[in-house]
Amino acid sequence: MEVIRVPGVMRQTAKGHLLRGRTIGFVPTMGALHRGHLSLVSRCREENDVAVVSIFVNPAQFGPSEDYQAYPRDVEGDMEKLRAEGVDVLFIPDVDGMYPEGFATYVEVEGLSERLCGAFRPGHFRGVATVVTKLLNIVRPTRAYFGLKDYQQAVIIRRLIADLDIDTEMVGCPTVREDDGLAMSSRNLYLSPAERKAATVIYRTLCQAEEALLSGGKGFAEVRSLMERGLAGEPLVKEVQYASLFDPWTLADISSMDANIYRGRTVLLAVAVVIGRARLIDNKLVEVPGVDQVRP
Ligand code: PAF
Repeated sequence: MEVIRVPGVMRQTAKGHLLRGRTIGFVPTMGALHRGHLSLVSRCREENDVAVVSIFVNPAQFGPSEDYQAYPRDVEGDMEKLRAEGVDVLFIPDVDGMYPEGFATYVEVEGLSERLCGAFRPGHFRGVATVVTKLLNIVRPTRAYFGLKDYQQAVIIRRLIADLDIDTEMVGCPTVREDDGLAMSSRNLYLSPAERKAATVIYRTLCQAEEALLSGGKGFAEVRSLMERGLAGEPLVKEVQYASLFDPWTLADISSMDANIYRGRTVLLAVAVVIGRARLIDNKLVEVPGVDQVRP
């Protein structure tokens, strides 16, 4: 595995592969790699001639009171995992390389960035959109792979790729879960054993909400309050930031809408909670049954 630390060198390497007619697959990460990341890497390897992974804990996407300093870092362990996956290139720039003195340009995806997590993490998606745009310009991938656990991030990146005419196909990949349903996340490392157990309430609540939608008896407002009550009922949940139903394209909150409008269409159930010092998010896409499909 080639390890590249300088953006200019990464750009030249990518150019060399593209000139030889090879496809480049790219998985951007912030490291502390878990099985969720590795599922993206393995798909990236399968679908492209050259697999590039980046590790960069991006300061621009953390708020002043957030966990930038504390964010888990394990570069040696990550490298071992990536070598075992057969990754061709690891791009691991430093902060000065990505944001040199005088850096002044940011990418803002309007509207989509203000909803869900954006309402609680001002500036977060501006930081994500900026670094992803830079990484795509440096690596110039044919395809880039993102996990759908960060559903809002995926929608925003899809939008920016289209809006800025970036020549990359964005591939959204399913969430990988622990056996008890908890979505894999680097931030799960923050949880004590009791908090880790309590965190199972997240996926359980999403499944209960899905069931309520599939059985057809409940309106969206009722499903929303079922989710809120389910999460708030777990004593170790310190805060429910949001738990609601959203339009999967616009990310508008649709919990006050008539469920009939979404019959036969897909809705996004999404939640963000704080447990201990971890802010955890998860989501589920559910197809609302058509009038003839309501389960008995
Ligand atoms: O999902 C992440 O790990 C990050 O937000 C990303 C896409 C690598 C940008 O820093």
